[in-house]
This record gives sequence, C-alpha cells and structure tokens, in this order.
Amino acid sequence: MRVTFTANGKPVEADDVWEGESLLYVLRERVGLPGSKNACEQGECGSCTVYLDGTPVCSCLVAAGQVQDREVRTVEGLSEENGELGLVQQAFIDAGAVQCGFCTPGLLVQTDALLDRAPQPSDTDIREALSGNLCRCTGYEKIMDAVRLASARKCQKVGTAE
Ligand code: FES
Ligand code: FES
Repeated sequence: MRVTFTANGKPVEADDVWEGESLLYVLRERVGLPGSKNACEQGECGSCTVYLDGTPVCSCLVAAGQVQDREVRTVEGLSEENGELGLVQQAFIDAGAVQCGFCTPGLLVQTDALLDRAPQPSDTDIREALSGNLCRCTGYEKIMDAVRLASARKCQKVGTAE
C-alpha cells in the first residue's frame, strides 16, 4: 500500500508498504529519516519516540497505515529552520548527556514535549516525563542536567523575546 503523511513539515510518500510495517521502519528505511532509533521494537525503551499529531508516541508501535494524512515530527525536526541544532539538542551536547546516542532521539522528543507543557519542570516532573525512556550508558544524571539546561535556556530566550 501507499502511505502519505507529513514528516517535519514536508509531504512524504512511501510505496509498497506492508500492512504490518511500523512507522519507525518507514521513517528509517523508506523516507530517509534515520534519527529515531530501533532498540527494542516493543515499546519498552522510548528510543523511537516521535510526535504524531503533536503527541509523543513510540513509532515502533504505530502501524504505518495509521499515519495516513497525519503529521509526524521526528528528532530531525527539532533543529532550527537554518539547520542549526535546536535548543534541546544543543543542551544535551553541552551537558554531556550523550554517550552511545541510542536513547538520545527519544529523550530529545520527550524533553521538547515536556518543556512545551512545563517550561520550568521540577526534577520529579523530569523523571516522570522521561520514565519511559531507557538509557544504558549515562546513569541519567547528565540527562537531568541537560533538561535543566534546556529549560533555563528556553526561559531565558522567552524572557529576552518579551
Ligand atoms: S524501539 Fe520503540 S520503544 Fe524501543
Ligand atoms: S547514551 Fe547510550 S543508551 Fe543512552
């Protein structure tokens, strides 16, 4: 079947999609967006998290046919329009929160979503928001630092703009 949807603001089309194929597979293998990672393929790790119509979902659990005519935003879509890293992406680098990087795309999308609804989250808020995202490398402290840094920079940016 053919699946047509919007990915990071651009219309995309994938042909010969098998009915049971996941959105994650379509993104990585068919439309050239390999940022979302395939770690467990069972909805357990969060590495494949993307926005679907504005809500973070595990793309390994979404059937390709379910995204017909819908909007997907991946970790690639968190960058600035000029191609520079986005605020959350840069904060993870600056805080040293990336090691192997497998968990990072999902963490970035979840952090972006968290800061949209709670620009100044408490540590409890952060832990709760990221509880579905597993990292085998960092011990989470650097990830906490990265989210706090992103939050501070976002608030500063909003304050400067006002
Ligand atoms: S790859 Fe989707 S949750 Fe792990
Ligand atoms: S950086 Fe390796 S799993 Fe998180």
